[in-house]
Amino acid sequence: MKNIFNSKYPIIQAPMAGGIINPQFVATVCNSGIIGFIPAGYLSILQLEEFIINVKSLLKPNTIFGVNIFIEQFRQSNIIDKPKYLIDIEKELNYKSTDQVQVPASISENDYIDLLIKHSVKMVSCTFGFFNSKSIQRLKEYNIKIIGNATNIEEFEYCIKHKADAIVIQGTEAGGHQASFMNERVNLTTTKELLTQIRKVYPSTIIISSGGISTSNYKEFLNLGADYVQLGTAFMLTHESSLSEIIKQFIIISKNTTLNNKITGKYARGVQNKLMEVLDLETVNHHFPIQHYITTEIRKYAKSENNYDFMSLWVGSNPDNFNLQSLEDLIKTLTN
Ligand SMILES: Cc1cc2nc3c(=O)[nH]c(=O)nc-3n(C[C@H](O)[C@H](O)[C@H](O)COP(=O)(O)O)c2cc1C
Repeated sequence: MKNIFNSKYPIIQAPMAGGIINPQFVATVCNSGIIGFIPAGYLSILQLEEFIINVKSLLKPNTIFGVNIFIEQFRQSNIIDKPKYLIDIEKELNYKSTDQVQVPASISENDYIDLLIKHSVKMVSCTFGFFNSKSIQRLKEYNIKIIGNATNIEEFEYCIKHKADAIVIQGTEAGGHQASFMNERVNLTTTKELLTQIRKVYPSTIIISSGGISTSNYKEFLNLGADYVQLGTAFMLTHESSLSEIIKQFIIISKNTTLNNKITGKYARGVQNKLMEVLDLETVNHHFPIQHYITTEIRKYAKSENNYDFMSLWVGSNPDNFNLQSLEDLIKTLTN
């Protein structure tokens, strides 16, 4: 195992965008010697800056943390007419809203990197793509470690070619969005298959294995050649995450996860529900993140009503992770 991040443990708490984790959560993880990641996805630059400042204020001296950003195509802010299928769902739920959706502008890599430099962030991971050459040059200049995300060997090789310091490989078991950026196909390769395949070809590249990793199997992945393991669902299903306790309980009893690309325009794993089925009947013709913004309002409303049928309940597929525990207990088990 190569410990390029000089962390106490070869374990990473996955970034989880969408109000799943909070600064106190990330700081507690980092202070334990596990590497915590701040999720920048869906946050404005100001919200991200506040998150970073709050985490830093709670960290022990010399404790590292990372920031994860989404790589997006340039996009101006935009107003889109709501599709009819969504208006029909709103009617069914007795939810009165406007007929248009506001899509925010994309945030440039430059703006993100300015913020990382301003706050002396030492590591950044990127999802849904890789940094452009100017960004790579700036990140290297400031000695910020760059972590790519790959769902197959082609994406892995792209990250290596563009000077990634380490690469997360994400298997099909992973909760949330698939990090794919070279094709729109669903990734059905398991984390173990991906790790074995890639490690054979690349014996010395730093690999972070992710997808379906739990307290019971994480050592297996380290033994198979992963330098680090990255866990999402296990952390999400702790009492201290920001998801409401009632939703966590629902996820735990549901167990049945599936991959769907209609809710946000990109394949993501979550609890199977009515929203996925309704949207499957329609031709959803917007890509991520536009489709994400189109369905955000109805999902938020459903969440406020505890209506599981119309939320997005992103979660991984390993049943070993389906139990609620304290963050302290999870950290204790992982660091023993
Ligand atoms: C609710 C949720 C949100 C996620 N958000 C992000 C994100 O913002 N950025 C990212 O790189 N990965 C994200 N992921 C994926 C994780 O990085 C990781 O690949 C996944 O959680 C690993 O699988 P596991 O959930 O079985 O541990 C998310 C996962 C979940 C469950």
